[in-house]
Amino acid sequence: MRPKSIVTGGAGFIGSALVRELLANGESRVSVVDNLNSGKLANLEAVKDQVETHLVDIRDYDELARIFAGADVVYHLAAIPSVPRSIKDPIPSHDVNINGTFNVYRAAQAAGVRRVVYAASSSAYGDTDVLPKTESMSPRPKSPYALQKLVGEYYGAVFSSCFGVESVSLRFFNVYGPRQDPSSAYSGVLSLFMKAALTRTAPTIFGDGEQSRDFTYVEDVATLVRKAATVPGVSGRVFNAGNGGRYTLNFLWEQVQKLEGIELKANYGPPREGDVRDSQADTVAAIRELGHTPRFTIEEGLRRTLEWYRAEHA
Ligand code: UD1
Repeated sequence: MRPKSIVTGGAGFIGSALVRELLANGESRVSVVDNLNSGKLANLEAVKDQVETHLVDIRDYDELARIFAGADVVYHLAAIPSVPRSIKDPIPSHDVNINGTFNVYRAAQAAGVRRVVYAASSSAYGDTDVLPKTESMSPRPKSPYALQKLVGEYYGAVFSSCFGVESVSLRFFNVYGPRQDPSSAYSGVLSLFMKAALTRTAPTIFGDGEQSRDFTYVEDVATLVRKAATVPGVSGRVFNAGNGGRYTLNFLWEQVQKLEGIELKANYGPPREGDVRDSQADTVAAIRELGHTPRFTIEEGLRRTLEWYRAEHA
């Protein structure tokens, strides 16, 4: 039998966590669509016998429609991430994040997929006057990436209302954890902090380091994504996928140093263009309506993450 779940971006850091989550919760096989632009087959190594991997770009509509045939749910996580990358080089991220997402919805419709769960982004909020950020606030995207991810949400709502494809958009808040790739300047800041600590190299903090983020452990996000596929009566909606806390970069670098038992002053550079100052999720709607309360504190998440990087580093 063909898998009933498809994960686009399933070889990525978050996508592969979702694949493991689905397999650990009752699915016997999962299909992955990934062009390995940033994903890695190594992320799926431990579960590869239960994964059908399609090395396909989401801009290829015909391939998507063929792969989606017979599926029940498409988890759409494939994207070109990063706020600064979308400012430096907006065309590829526009093409993948908007046109590719449109293809995913279209192919889902053609294939009769019941629901698409979409990885939206907390960046859509931009700078808000009030924290935490609730889903009823007007979005104020500050970068091409933020706008692209917001367009994907709107497409989800429209495919739900006009084309009969159920959709749920989850705004991911700065996801971190094992397997986040620290190899690029565009990598998530915590992966860069982990690498800096293990190689005893000072990280660079952009700005004064007092900007804050709701860092959310990858397994919590994966659980919420899985649950969003089955809850009835929420099609067309947008939910925060955050932890609900808020930590500054200065605090986090302190914590990483403590965990690793080092003292290493960070370098400070100019603030990054398109950066949001503070980010924190209101988690009430996700808890009440999707039934998921985040499980991992920042302390526990950092500890587990550093443990993984240590093993990799060794
Ligand atoms: C944004 C989104 C996030 C999304 C991600 C995808 C917000 C609030 N969050 O993350 O939901 O998943 O894009 O790419 O918009 N920094 C340093 N030094 C470094 C690297 C980064 O100081 O070497 C700083 C950045 O300037 C920023 C913070 O760390 O202030 C976090 O950066 P990053 O990890 O890239 O994520 P966001 O851009 O916040």
